[in-house]
Amino acid sequence: MALRPIICMPDPRLRLVSKKVEVFDDSIRALMDDMLETMYAAPGIGLAAIQIAEPVRVVVIDLAKKDDPPAPMCFVNPEILWSSEDKADYEEGCLSIPDYYETVERPARVKVGYQDRNGVHQEIEADGLLATCLQHEIDHINGVLFVDHLSRLKRERVMKKFQKAARLRESEQA
Ligand code: NI
Repeated sequence: MALRPIICMPDPRLRLVSKKVEVFDDSIRALMDDMLETMYAAPGIGLAAIQIAEPVRVVVIDLAKKDDPPAPMCFVNPEILWSSEDKADYEEGCLSIPDYYETVERPARVKVGYQDRNGVHQEIEADGLLATCLQHEIDHINGVLFVDHLSRLKRERVMKKFQKAARLRESEQA
């Protein structure tokens, strides 16, 4: 396993639509292990492969509480098959948009089809935090960030802030 650097907004790679995984071999499982290690170290509760610059449709999630044993979940080629009419509000954050949190409204429940680490097709019905987390991570593999769900004013404000910070970092390195 290896800790991998997380790419942050405004990195344009975060806007890529990730490619479907066709082959389930050791390299894809090694990628999942790297993603889990990187997510735990951050720390975070969810990570999409594109956040470590790998544009493939892989998501990892672990919602175990701090003192509970880890409960890693891997979703390959996840797809929302159904979402509820009723909505839920959660304060979301993202490892690619550090130190920014905002409330997002999403469907409260979803059914997600995916493949597991061995390529076996599975389905999961989720509510609560897992439903939100799955939707947030599936957005990532489609090039969508949680700030895209905010009002235009809020979205433009946070994007400007991160663009400015990136320019500052570049000029310091120059
Ligand atoms: Ni995120």
